[in-house]
Amino acid sequence: MAQAKSSYVCQSCGGQTAKWSGQCPACGDWNTLSEFAMPAKGRSRQSWSGAVSGESKVHSPDEVSLEAQTRAQSGIGEFDRVLGGGLVPGSVVLLGGDPGIGKSTLLLQALTGLAGQGVAPGLYVTGEESLSQVMGRAQRLGLPIEGLRLLAETRLEQVLGLVEREQPKLLIIDSVQTLYTDTLESAPGGVAQVRECAAQLVRYAKRTGTGLFLVGHVTKEGSLAGPRVLEHMVDTVLYFESEETSRYRIVRAVKNRFGTANELGLFAMTERGLREVSNPSAIFLTRHDQDVAGSTVMVTREGTRPLLLEVQALVDDSTLATPRRVCVGFEPNRLAMLLAVMHRHAGVSSHGQDVFLNVVGGVRVSETGADLPVVLSVLSSLKDGPLLRRTVVFGEIGLGGEVRPVPNGEERLREAAKHGFERAIVPAGNAPRKAPGDIQVIAINKLDEVFNHLH
Ligand code: TYD
Ligand code: MG
Repeated sequence: MAQAKSSYVCQSCGGQTAKWSGQCPACGDWNTLSEFAMPAKGRSRQSWSGAVSGESKVHSPDEVSLEAQTRAQSGIGEFDRVLGGGLVPGSVVLLGGDPGIGKSTLLLQALTGLAGQGVAPGLYVTGEESLSQVMGRAQRLGLPIEGLRLLAETRLEQVLGLVEREQPKLLIIDSVQTLYTDTLESAPGGVAQVRECAAQLVRYAKRTGTGLFLVGHVTKEGSLAGPRVLEHMVDTVLYFESEETSRYRIVRAVKNRFGTANELGLFAMTERGLREVSNPSAIFLTRHDQDVAGSTVMVTREGTRPLLLEVQALVDDSTLATPRRVCVGFEPNRLAMLLAVMHRHAGVSSHGQDVFLNVVGGVRVSETGADLPVVLSVLSSLKDGPLLRRTVVFGEIGLGGEVRPVPNGEERLREAAKHGFERAIVPAGNAPRKAPGDIQVIAINKLDEVFNHLH
């Protein structure tokens, strides 16, 4: 096979050189050159019409046949859910997460599950663990291993060659950062290697209709290229987002061409692998025996289902010149904005105060319905007064101090009623004519109205 040429491109100025050096010869920046594979031949031409070859042509809408997409279910409900209802044949899924969070475990379970549904044979390519480690895990988990095919290899050309021979219906690459291709000189794990290897695998998967899972480690040091560089190439991007220390593991569909983005899959890590959580909407709620200041229950909606979560705030006198704003599971800039709105429109100052905010359970809340609960938690901690008991809260807050409605209000209220909540503080725009169950709905329009509901 002819070696594709590679060249080095400066990330700052875009200048190209044939050889790597520490400093870009064009702009003088340091450590900005990275390797790129060049197409084998490049010609400039006047007209492209002579260049048309092969079967591709332009279609009108009625010529396009809509293939019924038959999805394959793995039998792991929460996993099928984040995929958008099962695996679409020929789709490419990137699964990212911190080392040790459970990526290999989940995919091994999914592989055997899918094999049971006829997506077989499935080939598990491991570049990190030995074959006996993988088999050991499969046995420990009690997985049906009859149809399982394994390969320990890190050279891309070898992997693709064997895959062509084996023709699996499902291919798992664990992990894409351990692969390398002969066509590039740079070390495995770098941006160029990871991208090129992934691109070749994606091309193979699309050509043959093979389902492809790529495992990518999220790296904090940046010595390995993170999965982010691959997000645009794949159909679906799944990330583990909880802490390794938590018993629960949350998988979020960050992008999905075949389903709802932001869908969450909730699992518990047990000694027999990842198990689905049976009552996912309320697993993170703590039942407090006494009223607690600084704690609010919110109904958020991630993906297609509501989720009850507790948001806790602690506001305390600061000893620092610039008080701290620390968030776990919430966007710090959003908190800063909400604190400013509280000051400006409700006259509540948090100057000179450290504010700590925690969404319990390691869930990252990304929707604006969390604004009102966050503000209430902060207020409640600041005033040291607990909120009314058995109350849920949701709602967006605007810069003018107005409380705005959020999507799917009724569904959120139904979920709260189902879990025995008695009151809901919601935006007036979300207040239904008839509240579901026995829940009492308190509708508010402006942020300052919320003060009346702290006790
Ligand atoms: P693993 O899937 O190897 O993580 P990753 O591939 O993302 O690096 O999971 C490793 C962790 O999961 C490890 O800390 C042990 C734990 N674990 C269990 O608790 N129970 C199990 O049944 C398995 C297989 C792993
Ligand atoms: Mg692993």
